[in-house]
Amino acid sequence: MLYQTAVFIHILSAVIWLGGMLFLVMVLVPLYRRERKAGGDMGELLRQITQRFLPVAWSAMALLAVTGIFLAWDHWGIRPGNFFDAGTHFVRMLQVKTGLFLLVIVLSLVHDFFLGPRVLTALKEARAGSSSPSGGGSRVLLLTFARVNLVLVLIILMLAVFLIRP
Ligand code: HEM
Repeated sequence: MLYQTAVFIHILSAVIWLGGMLFLVMVLVPLYRRERKAGGDMGELLRQITQRFLPVAWSAMALLAVTGIFLAWDHWGIRPGNFFDAGTHFVRMLQVKTGLFLLVIVLSLVHDFFLGPRVLTALKEARAGSSSPSGGGSRVLLLTFARVNLVLVLIILMLAVFLIRP
């Protein structure tokens, strides 16, 4: 039962995290752009929604790591010794999956706590009329980080499927 519970939490965390990211990209951002073109301003709402999503996303990431490590250790018998040198299909997939996950964590840290706040401040100042509305290079970089992150998380999801279905 512990095994099934861990898999359930692992998959639920992935659904919440990836689902939230896709909702932002596929629903919220296009709506924000359409509103801006029409002269409206959903900037403050978008800011509040992304800020509210931050703790949800980071909690899901933490749960993915904890349950993922537990499953690998407890159910699949992975130990540091066989994780770093075994050449089985499962371990190779797990190595790539874990490596990409670590990369996503680094990109998310920069995106959420460095670039994001900079762009939000720039947009706020622009709305108050004290600077240009672009947010400059940080905004382009922020979007690039977000897109790369989304693609990486989708690849991780694919690897998760291939992990136990060679
Ligand atoms: C430290 C990071 C991670 C580790 C160590 C890890 C480990 C694992 C392990 C061992 C399994 C097999 C569970 C089983 O016995 O059925 C698994 C399954 C799964 N993982 Fe992860 N995982 C990690 C991160 C992620 C992330 C970031 C995602 C999604 C974005 C993810 C999504 C999934 C999914 C959907 C499954 C179920 C696959 C299936 O049933 O086909 N995992 N993971």
